[in-house]
Amino acid sequence: MSKLNVPGPKAQIIIEKDHKYISPSYPRAYPFVMDHGKGVEVWDVDGNRYVDFAAGIAVVATGHSHPKVVRAIQEQAEKFIHISSDLYHENWTTLAEKLSDIAPFEEQAVSFMTNSGAESVEGAIKLARYHTGKSQIIAFLGAFHGRTYGAMSLTASKTKYHRGFYPMLNGIVHVPFPDPYRPIFTVRDGETYGERIVRYLEEEILTKLLPPEDTAAIIVEPIQGEGGYVVPAEGFFPALKELCEKYGILLIVDEVQSGMGRTGKWWAIENFGVEPDIVCAAKGIASGIPLGAVIAKKSVMTWKVGAHGNTYGGNPIACAASLATIELLEESYLSNAKEMGSYLKGKLDYLKTKYNAIGDVRGIGLMLGVEFVKNRDTKEPDGELRDKIEHECFRNGLIILGCGKNTIRFAPPLCITRAEIDEGITIFEGVLDEVINGS
Ligand SMILES: Cc1ncc(COP(=O)(O)O)c(C=O)c1O
Repeated sequence: MSKLNVPGPKAQIIIEKDHKYISPSYPRAYPFVMDHGKGVEVWDVDGNRYVDFAAGIAVVATGHSHPKVVRAIQEQAEKFIHISSDLYHENWTTLAEKLSDIAPFEEQAVSFMTNSGAESVEGAIKLARYHTGKSQIIAFLGAFHGRTYGAMSLTASKTKYHRGFYPMLNGIVHVPFPDPYRPIFTVRDGETYGERIVRYLEEEILTKLLPPEDTAAIIVEPIQGEGGYVVPAEGFFPALKELCEKYGILLIVDEVQSGMGRTGKWWAIENFGVEPDIVCAAKGIASGIPLGAVIAKKSVMTWKVGAHGNTYGGNPIACAASLATIELLEESYLSNAKEMGSYLKGKLDYLKTKYNAIGDVRGIGLMLGVEFVKNRDTKEPDGELRDKIEHECFRNGLIILGCGKNTIRFAPPLCITRAEIDEGITIFEGVLDEVINGS
């Protein structure tokens, strides 16, 4: 394969300046300096072209700079850019009505608009405490919910997110996520692993540690994102929902990464047949313009005037971009995510038959993960190999990102075509050949 000579001269200058003036806390994957993008293609400042299988971490759902989204942004910018959340505008209410139509529950939804995923999570846990009058929240090991104090306290995917920042928000208990590839409990006859985790929650946590009557909510990613693109084991969500109903605990789903059509349904939770009470959204909701939402059942969003607010919530440009995004998803990209997702999964499943270093291929729609191991029997994670592959993909013209300790995530724009998948997979396979087999 012919490798790109990257970073090129222009990229190097920008990166040098970046290192001088920008916070060193950002975890940069590799030296890609973007110039422009179109759909699934991106170009760096030195003119190198790449296929983008990361979509800005599952953000540009409609692809880079989709003309319809660009037009919506331009038209809104010419009318007005900001009015403040103390007043009203039409696109904001139209978007909230649309979110109610697509919310994963029967009841009417009411939305609080935010500027990021973490802010959606903050809003959701504040609402859960306010509405229930209870304080305790259950979250999952491996979860990623963001980096502000509440969201960070719920996060448990890597210790680096907590190191140096204690004390965390009070009142959070973490329990194991039902990872079917790496189970940590044995099951009884006839019990699924998902049910086993919920039994642990009830028999151990809610019996020995956390009084159910003090527990406001359980927050969970329907598919863990940053933690490794982990799809929960069978039986998990129905059992979890039953537990929530039994004890009057709210179910919050963090759909920041898995939502907005990525799995071929509006929300990943719809793949598991249960209704949450609150949904956290962001990322793909506005194709890259910062916007998020706390979408709750009307009977749950009971906070009073002034209880919660922000300056930029419902920003007119963000709402316009979001309405255009939702229209595009409705027209074709939602079904494309399903169809192209199974096409891509087929390709990755094939690669698993070819390379022993691939321990697991999983996911739904265009939210797919490939986990690398040193040995298929021991499942010892191979993070070093994953990092090498990620880097080499970049040098060969494929933008791809890792997640978890040893997984590569496949989260391309939802408009991706078969030809673009083929192109990306050819690069990926070539890199596997080179890095694993040395050929
Ligand atoms: C599931 C999930 N929740 C919350 C967040 C935080 O979103 P943001 O980075 O926009 O604050 C992320 C970001 O990756 C996420 O994947």
